[in-house]
Amino acid sequence: MKAVTKSISIIGLGPMGQAMANAFLKEGYSVTVWNRTVAKTENLASQGAQVAPTPADAIRKSDLTIISLTDYAIMYNVLDTAKEALKGKTIANLSSDTPQNVRRASEWVTRQGGKFLAGGIMVPPPLVGAEGDHVYTFYSGPADVFQQYKDDLAVLTRPDYMGSDVALAMLYYQALLDFMYTSIAGALHGYALLKSAGVPAKKLEPYFSNFLAFLPELFASSNTADEIDQRTYYGEENNMFMLVAGTMHVEQASVDAGIDSSLPKVVRQLFEVAVKKGYGKSGINSVIEAIYNEGAERSKLTAVEK
Ligand SMILES: NC(=O)c1ccc[n+]([C@@H]2O[C@H](COP(=O)([O-])OP(=O)(O)OC[C@H]3O[C@@H](n4cnc5c(N)ncnc54)[C@H](OP(=O)(O)O)[C@@H]3O)[C@@H](O)[C@H]2O)c1
Repeated sequence: MKAVTKSISIIGLGPMGQAMANAFLKEGYSVTVWNRTVAKTENLASQGAQVAPTPADAIRKSDLTIISLTDYAIMYNVLDTAKEALKGKTIANLSSDTPQNVRRASEWVTRQGGKFLAGGIMVPPPLVGAEGDHVYTFYSGPADVFQQYKDDLAVLTRPDYMGSDVALAMLYYQALLDFMYTSIAGALHGYALLKSAGVPAKKLEPYFSNFLAFLPELFASSNTADEIDQRTYYGEENNMFMLVAGTMHVEQASVDAGIDSSLPKVVRQLFEVAVKKGYGKSGINSVIEAIYNEGAERSKLTAVEK
């Protein structure tokens, strides 16, 4: 009997879509691709990928189509002429956007008779298809649809299913990006501070590396997640009164150095809000009280991680 070849379609061949297509080709999949700029299909075609003339043709070729576009808005343009083809097919959109836009897209695809999974891929293109604890993608959407395709999605990265509320994957993705963007901006600010005294970045680098290695211990020893969930913030060794003074020093040092001081200013302001809310004698984790708004509308999340 002839072996059944698994098939996959990919719409969008930026660096991420290209890496995905390569990973599936390597696993012996029959890969169909579509991209607005046709030139980007050539290399994949030479490796055996089929190039669909339209997005609708790409969708028709496989039960599962992965979308990798700059954002979700582009999906509507690209799929505008493919609505009919969506009937009975599954779309896994691994593009970045907001949780609300994910919900809208899921409703839109479902209205066309298709099924929808959202994904937030947590690695850069060179790590697609690689092994490791850090190589994963958050997925959300109907559990049965995820189960049906999880082995295919595992070709790209470890697929982590976060729940049936389709927005969850993007919320996890944004939470990680939030951490990444602010911590990288913080590190760059630190480099700028030293640079203002003529110190090359290379001199600071080993100290930053050391600090990065120490971060897990810092999180664990200050019980960050537990304290947030229990809303109790131990402050015996370093309380918010002291920490506000510390942030003021970083901000003033930046002003004195003539570098941008907006980042430490925002941090100082957040710390001050925590003090104003009565957390002066609490520890640093109480800053969550300045960020999280208890009165905010809770999103309709059906979280599985509770
Ligand atoms: N790259 C990363 O490190 C990384 C990591 C995690 C997540 N992501 C996310 O993965 C997604 C794809 O990433 P990428 O780096 O491949 O992004 P990209 O370089 O922005 O490429 C995105 C794709 O979108 C297409 N596109 C853009 N505007 C279009 C339009 N108006 N009509 C039709 N197609 C259009 C491009 O087509 P053309 O080729 O014709 O321009 C290309 O195929 C993004 O949402 C990104 O945030 C990326």
